[in-house]
Amino acid sequence: MNSFISWIGGKKLLKKKIIEQFPEAFDRYIEVFGGAGWILFDKERHALMEVFNDVNKDLINLYRCVKYHPEALQKELEWAFVSREQFFDYISQAAVRGMTDIQRAARFFCVIKLSFGSDLRSFGVRPRDMQRTIDYLQEVSKRLNKVVIECVDFGRLIKTYDRESALFYCDPPYYEAEKYYPDRFQPEDHIRLRESLSQIKGKFILSYNDCPEIRELYAGYNITAVERQDNLVTKTNPRRYKEVIIKNY
Ligand SMILES: C[S@@+](CC[C@H](N)C(=O)[O-])C[C@H]1O[C@@H](n2cnc3c(N)ncnc32)[C@H](O)[C@@H]1O
Repeated sequence: MNSFISWIGGKKLLKKKIIEQFPEAFDRYIEVFGGAGWILFDKERHALMEVFNDVNKDLINLYRCVKYHPEALQKELEWAFVSREQFFDYISQAAVRGMTDIQRAARFFCVIKLSFGSDLRSFGVRPRDMQRTIDYLQEVSKRLNKVVIECVDFGRLIKTYDRESALFYCDPPYYEAEKYYPDRFQPEDHIRLRESLSQIKGKFILSYNDCPEIRELYAGYNITAVERQDNLVTKTNPRRYKEVIIKNY
């Protein structure tokens, strides 16, 4: 199935290439930098135990509300309609106190859906079938039924879930793209991530932009170059991005 949201850095266009590089045997699957979860949602189940994490609290509140309260969230979204005014109202309401988790999740969901390129800031002008995406939340809720949802920094998550039989999928903010996640990921966190991953007992698979700094940081690991289309590709913009998939197996 598809994810229910789009997200900056989402792996919609790379998911097949990543999944085909998964090892044959693992019994716990941990998605460390969750975002829109394109890899998680692509399969009915990746492993006996699945963990989905992101340090973004609004995002994880949305996932938890979809998982545990899909009907209440759908009811809260009954009034949702596509308008520039409402979009900016939702953004300013993020700082308001006294709302329930479901009210917050509904607003955040609308901001993701209505923003341009999921930037959560600018209103994207285009027709949208909000009802279809709201109905889809029931299916998403079922997919998340047995998934453990966490909201912690990657360092702590990796330590907590590491086992020989674990597979960590890591999709951190790309090198020099940290500005999209300024309060959560700093340039030096790339080194901290490499240190965490170099100490694990389990396996990891990591996706990054293909650049000399990342190739140097992961020298000695198994690195495969892959290409994907630009998300905004058109006939006049046939741009392709070079990325790498890095593994410790
Ligand atoms: C490139 S996106 C992941 C995209 C995801 N794979 C998808 O398909 O949509 C990176 C994610 O890492 C999260 N993040 C940033 N810093 C983090 C940290 N220190 N620990 C855990 N997650 C973090 C961001 O909130 C963002 O959602």
